[in-house]
Amino acid sequence: MNSLLKCTGLLALPVLGLMLASPADSAQQWIGNPATGAELYDACVPCHTLRGNGIAGAKEDALIDKMKKYRTGTYASPKIQGMQKVLQSMSDQQLFDLAAYITKM
Ligand code: HEC
Repeated sequence: MNSLLKCTGLLALPVLGLMLASPADSAQQWIGNPATGAELYDACVPCHTLRGNGIAGAKEDALIDKMKKYRTGTYASPKIQGMQKVLQSMSDQQLFDLAAYITKM
């Protein structure tokens, strides 16, 4: 009886850990890889140029915020619609990677 309790206790621990970890993940637990971001940035060059016109050096969290908004918003400008298409093809992780790169441009 005693050893059975110990067993189920051990099994429950990792599950609890997972449940506790997920809310923290959604709250600003992003880690971007700037090297991957540099590759993804190819898609931005036609409009933002290699020097990151209008975006270089901006704060990482502000960049992520704006890119996420551009993914879902409705825009009249064909340029922004073009950017939206590019951003919509990207995962959240890819946005983090992009932001890590752009912030250091
Ligand atoms: C088809 C042209 C186009 C492409 C491609 C494009 N953008 Fe943009 N982007 C724009 C325009 C135009 C603005 C300015 C919008 C405004 O000022 O209202 C902008 C603004 C932004 C902003 C907000 C700047 C600010 O401070 O308000 C971010 C961040 C951004 N782009 C990131 C990106 C990233 C990252 C990519 C590549 C994945 C990308 N864009 C690709 C046209 C483009």
